[in-house]
Amino acid sequence: MEEIIAEIQRDYLEEIKKASTLKELDTLYLALFGKSGAITLLPKKFSGLSKSELQQIGPLFNKTKIGLEQTIETRRTQIREHSYQKLKTEELGFHLRGGKLNPPERWQAKRQGHLHLSSQFKKEIIDLFGKLGFQQFDAPHIELDKYNFEYLNIPKDHPSRDLWDTFYIDTSGTNIEPGQLLLRTHTSNFWPRLMEQGKTPLRAMSFDRCFRYEATDARHSHTFNQFEIAVVGENISMANLRQLSDYLLKGILGKEARSRFRPKYYPFVEPGVGIDSLCVFCHGKGCKICSGTGWFEIAGAGMIHPNVFKFTGLNPKKYTGLAWGFGPDRILMLKYGIEDIRYFLEGDLKFLQKY
Ligand code: PHE
Repeated sequence: MEEIIAEIQRDYLEEIKKASTLKELDTLYLALFGKSGAITLLPKKFSGLSKSELQQIGPLFNKTKIGLEQTIETRRTQIREHSYQKLKTEELGFHLRGGKLNPPERWQAKRQGHLHLSSQFKKEIIDLFGKLGFQQFDAPHIELDKYNFEYLNIPKDHPSRDLWDTFYIDTSGTNIEPGQLLLRTHTSNFWPRLMEQGKTPLRAMSFDRCFRYEATDARHSHTFNQFEIAVVGENISMANLRQLSDYLLKGILGKEARSRFRPKYYPFVEPGVGIDSLCVFCHGKGCKICSGTGWFEIAGAGMIHPNVFKFTGLNPKKYTGLAWGFGPDRILMLKYGIEDIRYFLEGDLKFLQKY
């Protein structure tokens, strides 16, 4: 058995070192760790071994397995780095019918990509809440009325629908009733979906796109991001909401950040609150950014309304829950002094290169 393991190790290490493309590495990975991979199938042969043999072979097998996995990973990084290096030095050339065209000066920049500012922030905040055990979920952008509105205690024809005007999808030719399919107006559609599936206790988050029927200007966009969390369980209280709000503010604005709650109306929470942050620019003295108030609003939040539990089939006497959501684009605008929300989607090179 030792020999078989040594042989696998020898053969594959050599192949991995020789591999020069990610595709080759994927093939090798599958040959080792796929459903009928050499490493996957090997433990089947252990059944004939004595206890003392097993005690020897077990650790050797594990060591070899981890070693091979790590070698593949290291080689992957090397191959990627190599291709990035190549990209870095490559000029953007423009070709027209086989001839080379002189590109405008600003296009001659070296092609050096990086994550978009929103994606950088997404990674940061997902990591931040991942540390508290929040799991990430994505819900559909094209959503049924019931998850975006009805289950969230926003009935048809209720005046609160005015807060979330949206785009409707033409459903003709489908079995969905007209007006029932829309672009979701907030990330709040992800938690009624999970509640309906009975996923309790729930500690979940989502960072994703939302849409509203808005006239666009420097502060409003028809397409924007939200980050939202939801916690459902047996003893969830406002104290948890407070603690998570402070955790958010300190995580994104720095250790000195402080929050305050203001009563605010959202149909799907009761009580509903607006979470304000002490203005980090003037430390509460009042400045242009906080319009002289010393505070700025960060998020909408509250304790999940008992009706949402009823609509999604959970017992509101047994469970309570909290949720908050906010627009990361707005926080980034404050943090970096970005004056127009439309920059986030426009793909303007100057903006992209700056952040
Ligand atoms: N969905 C709300 C909005 O888009 C924000 C919110 C989320 C409020 C969760 C309360 C609880 O404005």
